[in-house]
Amino acid sequence: MAKQPAIARTVPALRRAIAAWRQAGETIALVPTMGALHVGHLALVREAHKRAQRVVVSIFVNPTQFAPHEDFGSYPRTFEADRSALAAAKADLIWAPTAAVMYPQGFATRIAPEGAALAGLEDKFRPHFFGGVCTVVAKLFLQVAPDVALFGQKDYQQLCVVTQMAKDLDLPLKVVGIPTVREKDGLALSSRNAYLSAEERAVAPTLYRALKTSAARIKKGEPIGRVLDDGRAEIAMAGFALDYLEARYALTLAPLASSQDGPIRLLVAAKIGKTRLIDNLGV
Ligand code: PAJ
Repeated sequence: MAKQPAIARTVPALRRAIAAWRQAGETIALVPTMGALHVGHLALVREAHKRAQRVVVSIFVNPTQFAPHEDFGSYPRTFEADRSALAAAKADLIWAPTAAVMYPQGFATRIAPEGAALAGLEDKFRPHFFGGVCTVVAKLFLQVAPDVALFGQKDYQQLCVVTQMAKDLDLPLKVVGIPTVREKDGLALSSRNAYLSAEERAVAPTLYRALKTSAARIKKGEPIGRVLDDGRAEIAMAGFALDYLEARYALTLAPLASSQDGPIRLLVAAKIGKTRLIDNLGV
């Protein structure tokens, strides 16, 4: 059996482990997660090992990034399975604070990201989200003080927002984005895929198919407006309630002025039944 990674549940315990590595001159990578780990998360851990000598994985279902009507209460919590998966992936430390450790009584500071965080994509449907993500990610960066932090392109707007935050706050670490890991049929791996019924799971890959078709048509020079309208229709026909399918500048997520300017990223969010899925693809 693989050696179990150590678990830190308080900031002093975390800092002790980190300090020992730093004293030995070792570099540190951080992979922030909310647990319910799947192969996509583990790809971040694998990449982390290539970029630093020690790998810390945080597991914290962050209440501040969920709105009251969202799935904070029912979000899958699978700590024992996560721990075994991280043992097999040879993570060095699991940083698993409680909500009271992360947000003690009297906690009163929140990061308010702008720029890509106000692009009119996820932020339009989840106005709480990026403030909550930035607040917890800034805390994780300051707690762990890693040399590098790894994020999935799966949550592309989040990756843009966190990259900008690290730059704006002069945080001394590198934010690295890792390509989306998918099922064979193209569905992006997500902890929320566990919510899908068999029927919903069967139509879920429509999102990636629509992204691929749209990207290929835009690359060929077809007018972006028409391509997106067709993509939106395909997604709605499959039974989704579409939140958005948009083409944006890949770096800032600003709206496109002309299809000549690149690079372009396509981003989609849609609900199937009660489950909200997101995905994205470069053109
Ligand atoms: P979570 O949804 O658990 O995702 C943790 C990390 O795994 C994120 O960087 C996400 O983009 C990445 N990830 C998820 N699915 C992936 C896939 N199929 N392929 C590659 N990477 C994937 O994102 C969060 O948690 C939270 O918002 C967090 C950053 C931890 C802050 O609370």
